[in-house]
Amino acid sequence: MNKITIAIDGFSSTGKSTVAKQLAKHLGYVYVDSGAMYRAVTFYAMQNGLISKDDFNVEALIFQLEKITISFKFNESLGFAEVYLNGENIEKQIRTLEVSSFVSKVAAISEVRQKLVEQQQKMGLDKGVVMDGRDIGTVVFKDAELKLFMLASAEKRAIRRFDELIERGDKVLYEDVLHNVVERDHIDSTREDSPLVKADDAIEIDNTDMTLEEQFDKILKLAKMTI
Ligand code: C5P
Repeated sequence: MNKITIAIDGFSSTGKSTVAKQLAKHLGYVYVDSGAMYRAVTFYAMQNGLISKDDFNVEALIFQLEKITISFKFNESLGFAEVYLNGENIEKQIRTLEVSSFVSKVAAISEVRQKLVEQQQKMGLDKGVVMDGRDIGTVVFKDAELKLFMLASAEKRAIRRFDELIERGDKVLYEDVLHNVVERDHIDSTREDSPLVKADDAIEIDNTDMTLEEQFDKILKLAKMTI
């Protein structure tokens, strides 16, 4: 069967990765979580004292970019690929609210984007890929056969994210999660390099009042019509 590239962009915590994983599994495609790559660079910066609440040493991070190797390894029991930073599995560490609070600043740096976009494009060379992020349909795979743009109300997204973090055992406040979601959207949408915008040819999906099943059915139908 003809393999295509599926680009899923949208605002923070719109459930992009959940539906992307489901879709990739159903189609036998590779799923790539591009946000995990920006989170991995952020985690590296935190571990190496390059970013904190009061300080961000952008030059040092740019200088050290060549020391950062990001890879994915499929975890059979989880059913998706986990992210590794210089050989270490950091899948859990990158999902904290602390990483979320820094990641958009790191993702606004052009040198970081250049490095990660290059790697993402290589991962998509053979098609048969579902990639989610902020600039997949506009920059990484401009020629993707199917582009989706996901949105939902900020409150609904914050509730979903809050529930996820609580389920993991993280101690967070709903207000802080909501603040982070809104702040990230603002930074991601207003940055100079590759801002979060809907590609002209992307199909918009507002899932504020959709169940996961309804959303998956709709997206699978779109994918089948395109393949
Ligand atoms: O998808 P996720 O919420 O994990 O992404 C974390 C952050 O990484 C986003 O808020 C954004 O700043 C950045 N990102 C990006 N471009 C992508 C994917 C993520 O700038 N393609």
